[in-house]
Amino acid sequence: MESIKMNETLYDLPAIESDCWSRIMDGVIQSSHPFHQSVFANGNTIGANMRMVVLRKASATEKTVSLYTDIRSSKWEELQKNQSISWLFYDHESRIQIRLSGKASLHQNDELANHSWDNVNLNSRKNYSSILIPSSEINDPKDILQQNLDTTTKDSEEGKENFGVVVTNILWMEWLWLNPGCHYKAKFIYSKNGEFTGSWLVP
Ligand SMILES: Cc1cc2nc3c(=O)[nH]c(=O)nc-3n(C[C@H](O)[C@H](O)[C@H](O)COP(=O)(O)O)c2cc1C
Repeated sequence: MESIKMNETLYDLPAIESDCWSRIMDGVIQSSHPFHQSVFANGNTIGANMRMVVLRKASATEKTVSLYTDIRSSKWEELQKNQSISWLFYDHESRIQIRLSGKASLHQNDELANHSWDNVNLNSRKNYSSILIPSSEINDPKDILQQNLDTTTKDSEEGKENFGVVVTNILWMEWLWLNPGCHYKAKFIYSKNGEFTGSWLVP
């Protein structure tokens, strides 16, 4: 753990909490950061549903993390029924795992979603403009190729109606550091105003 030294700071829960959010924020802006792509999970009628997503936004002050998705995807429908969600991050190099849980708020065609859409580049906008619904069955993968061709900036606006932002209000965070020789684990429970209670856990 580079930024927290092996001294009394290590036993400082607020410093660890702050370090976790610093790493998460780095994961948003650095595409090569191990947290940039993470596992996002929610519950559905069968059990837990997990998939990789790109970490798009995070706020250490508001304790939120966000992803972009197509509102026609399964996750969007599932999240309308059950807003409980979890995120999983792991940095192989520092051997730090961070788990987050919280409640989703869904944004489509509102100020937050529109502002986010304005910052989605043309290439990524294509991901939201498919005529066929994501994950619907097709006879041949070539069926979807034609609709991806010749997308202009104007055409790309068509995807806007399918574009959604899932903001997670974090209620719980767990930090696990697989420090060689001695593992450390802590949890942080957030209140509505973003303050937290930290506890050490048996690793
Ligand atoms: C590296 C990687 C990054 C991904 N990023 C996203 C993403 O940011 N948003 C998204 O909706 N799907 C993303 N996907 C696709 C999802 O993992 C998933 O296949 C898709 O969203 C459909 O999931 P659902 O049917 O459970 O909604 C990504 C997949 C991979 C492999």
